[in-house]
Amino acid sequence: MRKKSDCCDEKTKVLSISPIGEGYWTLRLRAPQIAGQARPGQFVHIRVPGLEASALRRPFSIYGAEGDELRILFKVVGRGSEALSRVQAGVAVPVLGPLGNGFPKPAKGTVPVCVAGGYGVAPLSFLAKRTGAGGITLIGGRTAADILAAADFEPLGWTVKVATQDGSLGTKGLVTVLLEETLGQLREEGKKAEIFACGPTGMLRAVGAMAETEGSRAWLSLDERMVCGVGACLGCVQKIRREDGSEYLARVCKDGPVFESRTIVW
Ligand SMILES: Cc1cc2nc3c(=O)[nH]c(=O)nc-3n(C[C@H](O)[C@H](O)[C@H](O)COP(=O)(O)OP(=O)(O)OC[C@H]3O[C@@H](n4cnc5c(N)ncnc54)[C@H](O)[C@@H]3O)c2cc1C
Ligand code: FES
Repeated sequence: MRKKSDCCDEKTKVLSISPIGEGYWTLRLRAPQIAGQARPGQFVHIRVPGLEASALRRPFSIYGAEGDELRILFKVVGRGSEALSRVQAGVAVPVLGPLGNGFPKPAKGTVPVCVAGGYGVAPLSFLAKRTGAGGITLIGGRTAADILAAADFEPLGWTVKVATQDGSLGTKGLVTVLLEETLGQLREEGKKAEIFACGPTGMLRAVGAMAETEGSRAWLSLDERMVCGVGACLGCVQKIRREDGSEYLARVCKDGPVFESRTIVW
């Protein structure tokens, strides 16, 4: 059972903001309340300074939480993330969190396999750090600049493999090519994978299908556009299948963002 955490609306303070390659940033916030409760796979909803007061908050996965410090890793894709990349150290940032269910702990006797697409690596790095035991991380992106945080995993005893669509780093192709290889190797060694994935929807669907074929469990963190972030507006629903076969509309922000792949009705 995943523990519930109490969400709070905290007035955090920017400790630092640093570019980590083309269009990607890491933001460190002083956020003692949220950092103290954060678990891998949960996210925060940020009121971005510099946007008008009526602007929606933006959701970002928790990349790390240690002591009083909360970290996120983000890509500039539009107005909100662009404004966030311009915050300065010392600025106050209202942050709601930690939100969502998060990933479960890897089951005993399985090999955790993380599959990341682009900034989807953020919650998986946090998972690896909290899991302690080693595992395998597969990171994919369009090009070498989209391969982020790979260096986080090796010091923790994890094996890292990389794939880029243009072949500029690692294997040429999609990250699912690496997953197919990895699942095959584990099968030959008589080991069972448990998959944890975060990335674009197409990647998540493919990962879910491969896990099903292999008979492995896969936990997918869905990237759905959000409004309230706390389950009140039904702006982020996803059809989910219960064990008895009936279906319901789950709120990705409140009931997710992590769902077991076999329950998702794509
Ligand atoms: C649970 C969750 C965790 C997330 N974690 C991270 C993270 O760790 N790092 C990170 O960089 N981003 C993350 N995102 C995505 C992030 O929330 C969006 O990129 C951000 O809200 C875009 O805001 P914007 O104003 O910059 O872009 P907008 O101007 O709103 O949109 C610009 C472009 O980005 C697309 N877009 C907007 N929101 C999303 C989304 N949720 N998914 C895919 N495309 C989107 C739009 O369709 C548009 O093409 C996460 C989203 C969710 C739901
Ligand atoms: S964003 Fe409002 S219910 Fe999920």
